[in-house]
Amino acid sequence: MSVNFKIFDAIATDYDNWFEQNDNIFRSEIRALKLSISPHKKGIEIGTGTGRFAKALKIPVGVEPSENMASIAMSRGINVVNACAENLPFHNNSFDFVLFVTTVCFLNGIEKAFSETNRILNTNGAVVIGFIDKNSPLAKVYKNSKNKIYQKSHFYSAEELTGILSKSGFNNFTFLNTLNDTYKNEEIATPMVGQGCGKGNFIVLKAIKK
Ligand SMILES: C[S@@+](CC[C@H](N)C(=O)[O-])C[C@H]1O[C@@H](n2cnc3c(N)ncnc32)[C@H](O)[C@@H]1O
Repeated sequence: MSVNFKIFDAIATDYDNWFEQNDNIFRSEIRALKLSISPHKKGIEIGTGTGRFAKALKIPVGVEPSENMASIAMSRGINVVNACAENLPFHNNSFDFVLFVTTVCFLNGIEKAFSETNRILNTNGAVVIGFIDKNSPLAKVYKNSKNKIYQKSHFYSAEELTGILSKSGFNNFTFLNTLNDTYKNEEIATPMVGQGCGKGNFIVLKAIKK
């Protein structure tokens, strides 16, 4: 299903406010993402939304096609480029890591987006993807809900993403799982290492450019 960015324009403020009420979920996701990103230096977030993750992870630049999401990100000091993942306006070999957080499920052309990601990464650079596992309880809750954006999403499993990434020039896959189904939003969760489909609602997949 194709995503119209106007949906994100309409929900930008509500989307951003959600994190105020769910700070431990945000911090749990940040903890897992930081572990995956840490050795890499120059990064960019694709689908940076309101820039909360980019700011917390000290990523100075993001790509974002929704004007209203982008304007909140810019108010956080993120340098936002108005573009899409499928056609990135950057030179080859420009970054050490590329981050996607809860964005791959909205891409109109995931294969093109991953080949563009590969192109703008340095050799041995990393793509780090935080996503809601298609096989997780949370994906089922979202799909059955009236949530305007997730109704339009296409969730992926870890196997599906690694398959597409392999064809796009990536290898050395590693995984962290966090926010398992017993998580109660009272603490910052400790990520678990391993593919573990269905064990964590939020998976961080890391892959290296060949
Ligand atoms: C659920 S939000 C996630 C935002 C941010 N990464 C976060 O986790 O808070 C998904 C974002 O992806 C953006 N997006 C959707 N399709 C995109 C595309 N093809 N290229 C780049 N960004 C896209 C949307 O505009 C939206 O801001």
